[in-house]
Amino acid sequence: MSSNERGVIVTGGAGGGIGIGATRVLAQAGWRVLVVEINRPAVTAMQAEAAADGWHADVLFADITEPDAPARIVDHALELYGGLDGCVNNAGVGLVKGSTEVTDAQFDTLMAVNIRAMFRLSRAAYSALEASQGAIVNIGSINSRATLPKYAVYAASKGAVESLTRGMALDYGPQGVRVNCVLPGLVDGPQTREVLSHLTDDVEGYLESWIKSKQALPYLTGRDDVGRVIAFLLSDDARAITGQSIVVDGGTLAQVSDR
Ligand SMILES: NC(=O)c1ccc[n+]([C@@H]2O[C@H](COP(=O)([O-])OP(=O)(O)OC[C@H]3O[C@@H](n4cnc5c(N)ncnc54)[C@H](O)[C@@H]3O)[C@@H](O)[C@H]2O)c1
Repeated sequence: MSSNERGVIVTGGAGGGIGIGATRVLAQAGWRVLVVEINRPAVTAMQAEAAADGWHADVLFADITEPDAPARIVDHALELYGGLDGCVNNAGVGLVKGSTEVTDAQFDTLMAVNIRAMFRLSRAAYSALEASQGAIVNIGSINSRATLPKYAVYAASKGAVESLTRGMALDYGPQGVRVNCVLPGLVDGPQTREVLSHLTDDVEGYLESWIKSKQALPYLTGRDDVGRVIAFLLSDDARAITGQSIVVDGGTLAQVSDR
């Protein structure tokens, strides 16, 4: 592969929010992107958008929590690209439920997708990333720093993402592999709207009021805003950055109280 044609895995890379934002920004920047997905309609929609916009992503259908998924995903990327330069652990699930109401199964699902699968895929990708001096970008959330009622288990899973990122950065750094995470605030997309629909009957109104009261900036963070930060962290421009969490939240965490 030439230097402007590097291979990257993006889990959940067809999701209508951060996933497709990352996939599109990376594909348009010359990366060869392997999207790992369980959602067939989302992949169909992504492929239609890619065809219309003139970019391409490869697809592997796999549930990242399956025991053999990490090896299958990395092997597939190596077959396609002959090497691997990046791994974006984006796939994640949300949960809005009071701590006393959360079931064992819900707790286990959140941890399985949001942190265990991230750890296992990163571990499986490590050798190939060492060979290419590549990088991992994990998608956390501002919920690891400050959270909301009914977000305790989601916040815990994202707290683990930050800690794992820091620890892996120390383990992999001496071999030249960088590991960082991005902490998005509220990002527009279908998963966000689905989660919010459990909190309010008026999702549009909720988003407007969020911008006015919870952010410094007067517009919602879009999928490409996060995608561009991911692309930066994967690029050689970020060669001295590892073990860091980059907050992409329009200024939400900068505020001590609502505006
Ligand atoms: N949307 C937000 O406002 C927001 C804010 C902070 C953090 N995040 C985090 O960003 C990431 C992306 O969230 P998003 O809301 O943009 O969603 P997204 O649009 O990127 O969609 C996520 C995709 O992950 C896929 N996925 C889920 N479980 C999977 C599994 N087991 N195997 C393979 N694929 C799987 C889904 O099919 C979906 O298409 C998540 O980790 C989320 O927690 C999102």
